[in-house]
Amino acid sequence: ASTLGAAAAQSGRYFGTAIASGKLGDSAYTTIANREFNMVTAENEMKIDATEPNRGQFSFSSGDRVYNWAAQNGKRVRGHTLAWHSQQPGWMQSLSGSSLRQAMIDHINGVMGHYKGKIYAWDVVNEAYADSGGGRRDSNLQRTGNDWIEVAFRTARTADPAAKLCYNDYNIDNWTWAKTQGVYNMVRDFKARGVPIDCVGLQSHFNGNSPYNSNYRTTIQSFAALGVDVQITELDIQGGSATTYANVVNDCLAVARCTGITTWGVRDSDSWLGAGAAPLLFDGNGNKKAAYTAVLSAL
Ligand code: XIL
Repeated sequence: ASTLGAAAAQSGRYFGTAIASGKLGDSAYTTIANREFNMVTAENEMKIDATEPNRGQFSFSSGDRVYNWAAQNGKRVRGHTLAWHSQQPGWMQSLSGSSLRQAMIDHINGVMGHYKGKIYAWDVVNEAYADSGGGRRDSNLQRTGNDWIEVAFRTARTADPAAKLCYNDYNIDNWTWAKTQGVYNMVRDFKARGVPIDCVGLQSHFNGNSPYNSNYRTTIQSFAALGVDVQITELDIQGGSATTYANVVNDCLAVARCTGITTWGVRDSDSWLGAGAAPLLFDGNGNKKAAYTAVLSAL
């Protein structure tokens, strides 16, 4: 195969990218994105602040631009994200307790209702675990009660039974880290108690402080063994090592339930980390990097 999407499809997987609605008028960007990728995540446009800027008033114009571009070009869409401590609109930041809990439920119903039947997988809850210690992150959502995550997942299952429901986080790639174990224990508990969860998203932002480790394959295998799919949802590798990119692909391909890989942007110049981080598969001129070739041949 000569593109990332087609190469991933050879094993029944997908290869995706984050898409920014503001770049859909850049033909250099859309040419690469359309040619290479067959799964799309809106980089910001389906987040809470974008979709519910005022309580009870939903806004899907930017999200729909990304969704429609993907659908018109035959690509599936991952929904990102419904319950998160970050990128909350001001009205939500100032809520607490039962009114925040209800606002979370209403938000999930409003956004999933709009996209009902159209989304491959939703990141229902994003980044709920603390960076160290293996416990929950303190946030306004966490302060509504420890059951907020399972309430979010139960709400999501009813809102769109066709979507896979994912828990998504960063720094849960290294199997030895407490944060990874904390999330693993939550997923194990959810499966044991019948809380609806279908997938775990490993963001996989690799850098000097959280580098790729060869136990990544163990992490993927361990989550999959709980009975969930695993998706690599926001891959970028600071410095863009071709060897590390190939390792990531090989680790996913080694696990049947690792169903796809998404890089967090198209060209280095599109990266949230800045072009200097050179973390993606295409350079700022749209040229394929060594990492691209390594990924294509590993798929
Ligand atoms: C980032 C976007 O790439 C930026 O454009 C935005 O300013 C901040 O959010 N984890 C996530 C993503 O789940 O939503 C974040 O995306 C990157 C880290």
